[in-house]
Amino acid sequence: MKTDTMAVFGKATESFSAGAKTLPQRYFVAREIFAKEQEAIFSEQWVCVGHQSQIARAGDYFVREVAGESLIIVRDQKGTIGGFSNVCRHRGTRLCEEASGHAPAIQCPYHAWTYALDGRLIGAPHMESAVGFDKSQYSLGTVRTALWEGFVFVNLADDSAPLHSTFAALAGKFTHWNLPKLRSAQRIEYDVRANWKLIFENYSECYHCPGVHPMLSKVSPYDSAENDLCEGPFLGGFMSISKGASLTMSGNACALPVGEIQGEDHARVFYYSIFPNMLLSMHPDYVMVHQVWPTAPDRTRILCDWFFHPEAFGRADFHPKDAVEFWDVTNKQDWRVCELSQQGIASRAYQPGPYSPRESIPAAWDREYLRHLPHAL
Ligand code: FES
Ligand SMILES: [Fe+2]
Repeated sequence: MKTDTMAVFGKATESFSAGAKTLPQRYFVAREIFAKEQEAIFSEQWVCVGHQSQIARAGDYFVREVAGESLIIVRDQKGTIGGFSNVCRHRGTRLCEEASGHAPAIQCPYHAWTYALDGRLIGAPHMESAVGFDKSQYSLGTVRTALWEGFVFVNLADDSAPLHSTFAALAGKFTHWNLPKLRSAQRIEYDVRANWKLIFENYSECYHCPGVHPMLSKVSPYDSAENDLCEGPFLGGFMSISKGASLTMSGNACALPVGEIQGEDHARVFYYSIFPNMLLSMHPDYVMVHQVWPTAPDRTRILCDWFFHPEAFGRADFHPKDAVEFWDVTNKQDWRVCELSQQGIASRAYQPGPYSPRESIPAAWDREYLRHLPHAL
């Protein structure tokens, strides 16, 4: 965004569509809608599963469940990141049980068929005497993977558009934030008893900040939001840091700047939602990323990482906990109101309510969501 940010940002209220209301109850409670979302959104869209630095060496892997499918995301000997079904080609057994790890190859715990890190079957005891058996026909099932700014995305659909065209609107926008090089200092996992859409709707406005986040509101005025992405799959903008150098418990910067932050951006936090499962929050000295994973209509698993400049680690001025604690407190305040919303929305008394002019982004997020579920109404 650099120093000309003000020229391209519009006030948060400008894109307000009069009459926008929250979604009907069934979108938050119905199993059928949850199943449709898994099929039409999480099985069709590029979804964020992590960052390349989290599998830095050949043989590093993690397992992620996407739309009910367990996937192994692994870096091979050539340094390429691949995605595979966590399903043995012999008798279908789950291969990796650990959430993450490091291994020279992927070996099935049942009869020890062994797969190279690029998915090829390289060992199948006693199968040499099986008539017509050809190892090359039994590689692991692959899933499409792609990188965006160092983040790893997967797509279960073979026929969807490539990631670079889906993300064309963001090309170059975040280059100066150095995202591909950053490293996570900490991950916290949250189990939130609320529908996943409430997490996005909550993230997309600061109308709730004065009451819900007294600590955040003191240092980042709730009415300072200015948005530059107001419609479509990528939404958001920035808010000001009015006191201190960053959003930390101490108010000080807690690490080296993450990128080439210029001008007024030193006093801004940029918040973007990347449909359908990523929240990207960029501070001068760290980047927080939430992965949002629906597990049931009323339950969401959230993986939150705090990323820093790779050279920040080990320095005397590196205090990641200062940032982690600030947002852990703030995250929990958000999850609490999301859970209260879920409880109220499940009531027979709930009816869609009017969005305020300060909730133009949640309304836009709902419109984008509905574009993917045109027949669910
Ligand atoms: S099921 Fe995997 S080796 Fe038999
Ligand atoms: Fe909040």
